[in-house]
Parts: sequence; C-alpha cells; structure tokens
Amino acid sequence: MKKQTFNGSTMLSPVPVVLVTSKNKKGESNVFTVAWTGIMSSEPPLLYISIRPERLSHEYITETMEFTVNLPSKNLVKLVDYCGVKSGRKNNKIKECNFTLKKGKKVKSDYIEECPINIECKVKNILKPGGSHDIFISEILCTHINEDLIDSNQKIHFDWADLIVYSHGEYFPINKKRIGSFGFSVGKKKKNDNIIHKNSKKNSNLK
Ligand SMILES: Cc1cc2nc3c(=O)[nH]c(=O)nc-3n(C[C@H](O)[C@H](O)[C@H](O)COP(=O)(O)O)c2cc1C
Repeated sequence: MKKQTFNGSTMLSPVPVVLVTSKNKKGESNVFTVAWTGIMSSEPPLLYISIRPERLSHEYITETMEFTVNLPSKNLVKLVDYCGVKSGRKNNKIKECNFTLKKGKKVKSDYIEECPINIECKVKNILKPGGSHDIFISEILCTHINEDLIDSNQKIHFDWADLIVYSHGEYFPINKKRIGSFGFSVGKKKKNDNIIHKNSKKNSNLK
C-alpha cells in the first residue's frame, strides 16, 4: 500500500479518554476530560496526565498534588465530551452532569460513582517540557472497581465495562471480543488463566 507522510502531530491513536476529578485547597471539586494519559511504569505503578496550564484542573491539581482518574463507560460519552469543552471556571460540571462523588480512600479528591473504575493518584513530579502541556507524573495509590466486573475467581473484566477510546477527534466503543492475550504469540499460558488478583501487586496482565 502506498503511504502519505504528514508532518509531526498527535497521531498516536486510539488513546484512552478519561474523566479526571480533583480538589483545590479549599476543598472545591472539579472534573475535566483527558486523552493525553498513559501508564509509565509497573513498579511503582505510575501514570501521567498532560494538562494545559490554562485549565482550572491544572490549578487544582498543582495545589493539592492529587487527582483521580475515572474510566467512563460508553453511556457516559456525552458527559465525557461536555467535561472536555466546558471549564469549571464558568460551569459546575459535576452538578450539571449529575455525577455522584464518593470520598477518596487515599487521596482527598473524590471519585465518580457512575464510572466503573476509579484510580487514585498522587503527583510525584510535574514536567514542563516547554510545549503546550505540563506532564503530571503520578503514582497509582489504589483503584476502585465495580464488583460486577469481578468474577468468582477474582478476575477483573475490563471488557465488561463498556469502556471507550478516543481516536483522532472521535469516540469509539471497545470491541468486546478478545483477539489475543499477553504472550499468546509464543504459546505462553498465563498462571491462573490471566487472573488479576484484587489488591495484588503482581498485575501480570499489564506488565
Ligand atoms: C476528548 C477530549 C480530550 C481532552 N484531553 C485533554 C488533555 O489530555 N489535556 C488537557 O489539558 N485538556 C484536554 N482536553 C480539554 C479539557 O478537557 C477542556 O479544556 C476542559 O474544559 C478543561 O476543564 P477545566 O478548565 O474545568 O479544567 C480534552 C478535551 C476533550 C473533549
């Protein structure tokens, strides 16, 4: 196939799309949409989110150095978009979206009950590479997962959560049908058939 070449741009696709909740020092909450996010390290578990300095969330997270990543199901896609086009400077997005906030376990920021997976994070380092976004490198302290995504063997089924991805300006559901698993190309059989144990540090699935 003949290819066309494009100048450097944000062509990595698809990427996750998440709702990030945070609090400021006064205890006020905000939520915004983030697509520039990813896992950086397994041990310790680190993820990053990239935030433009003009976002209210940038201000809040810099103040408290904590936030929560909430993974939305496809039924929330309209709210995901809304939280990405309206700023907490003018809109009370949490109220408008009717989100139920639950108290964080290890961080002060609340998590969104309506999202099936919530990841509590503590900022370790803020990189300012000089571009449009600052990069918040953060440790994952704990994760809350809806019980209906965990089977009787304690295997966590992210595929049951109807999660969505962001691809070049558009939102897509994730196809539920598995097309492979870690190491299957070399016939690797996983211990306990890929069980991810709750609270286990040995998250072999995602290494
Ligand atoms: C799909 C999508 C992805 C986005 N990803 C990011 C991102 O990774 N980083 C960022 O700073 N802004 C991102 N935005 C824009 C912010 O979510 C948006 O400016 C929001 O209004 C900021 O809210 P706040 O001022 O209340 O913090 C994204 C928006 C959308 C719709």
